Amino acid sequence: MHHFALRDGALHAEDVNIETLAALVGTPFYCYSTATLRRHIRVFREAFAELAPLIAYSVKANSNLSVLKIMREEGAGADVVSGGELARALEAGIDPKKIVFSGVGKTRIEMAAALDAGIHQFNVESEPELDALNEVALSRGARAPVAFRINPDVSAGGHEKISTGKAEDKFGVAWTRAPAFYRKAAGLAGIEIKGVDVHIGSQISDLEPFERAFLRVADLVRALRADGHAIDRLDLGGGLGVPYGGPDQSGGDPPHPDDYAKLIRRIAGPLGVQLIFEPGRMIVGNAGILVSRVLYVKRGEARDFLILDAGMNDLIRPALYDAYHAVEPVRPRPGALEAYDVVGPVCETGDRFARQRDLPPMVEGDLVAFKTAGAYGAVQASQYNSRPLVPEVLVDGARYAIVRPRPSFDAMLADERNPIWENAAQTP
Ligand code: LLP
Repeated sequence: MHHFALRDGALHAEDVNIETLAALVGTPFYCYSTATLRRHIRVFREAFAELAPLIAYSVKANSNLSVLKIMREEGAGADVVSGGELARALEAGIDPKKIVFSGVGKTRIEMAAALDAGIHQFNVESEPELDALNEVALSRGARAPVAFRINPDVSAGGHEKISTGKAEDKFGVAWTRAPAFYRKAAGLAGIEIKGVDVHIGSQISDLEPFERAFLRVADLVRALRADGHAIDRLDLGGGLGVPYGGPDQSGGDPPHPDDYAKLIRRIAGPLGVQLIFEPGRMIVGNAGILVSRVLYVKRGEARDFLILDAGMNDLIRPALYDAYHAVEPVRPRPGALEAYDVVGPVCETGDRFARQRDLPPMVEGDLVAFKTAGAYGAVQASQYNSRPLVPEVLVDGARYAIVRPRPSFDAMLADERNPIWENAAQTP
């Protein structure tokens, strides 16, 4: 459920007319709905109400400070994967005791920052990382609260590039070798074993892989307890898919959070652990759209092109994962549908959002909205082709706020400089 709908012929975000917003902000821009963000986090929380889990919103999906602040207001914590994300979560006022730190390549500097902040948990992904964390903790007179991320060897995820739970993926420690790692960790003075962690992929559209992975992990929790470890927490990661529509919505609509919750209650309920979740996409995915204007309608030899002012640098998911995003006119015109290739202005053939997409008649200057663009949209944007970073706008009822402005060309160039060789330092 989201709060983007046609009203009086034009797309609105809550009570804000997207045409008006586009005139005020300029295109392209991302637009997020506060009501939708709040609704999703509440639906997720209510699905697990009696288990009272820690919902550590996965910052990577959309890290705008205004979004993080809404998560904080809703009582969520944060799943971070870098020192930068940690800094954002803290800046947004998220309680460090609700922050978990994931990722295969944490640096010692990032570990130290997270220890100093007093985070809830490190999700450790390898033996050398465990050794490094132990060293850093000892050097600061601290003990790092740790869960190992288990690789359950279960294939899942909407695309090969976003599947993480197979043995050949770089993530986690093999479930078969986990008992040995825990035994080792138990002997390290800078490490405090807290639990087990698993995350098998993203945009997962059926429950079966979750079930296989979680059953495996529940067995492991019992085995580790039998080995004498105090396993009090179970972090089940993120990964629940959202409906993007389109023909490649494989397996139909993704499961409802209530069914996902039922599965987890059955498997993890009896373990008596604190549950942790790291949802990203399902919280922010359809709480955001990307709004763009049609620059030209180009009638080609083989096909017609809708050339937009948004490019792959603003929304890279179609180019990177062949992802489907619904494209809808902000004010649909009456008339027969026509097939267009929807493309951006970037000088790459891959700068194509959709092939042969059926749309109502479109003319130059029309606005379109890419739906379900709130997750992994703005966060993956770049300035490729020296296109200033795409702005972000948050709507709340009839109000709007520009939560990341479009940089001017001057601002875009401000951090770059020509060397003054006469004054330049020599390497020693
Ligand atoms: N926890 C960990 C350890 C993760 O690696 C991820 C996502 C999440 C949680 C959140 O997963 P979610 O609930 O959002 O599925 N850029 C790609 C998605 C990459 C996902 C990376 N990890 C995309 O645009 O589809």
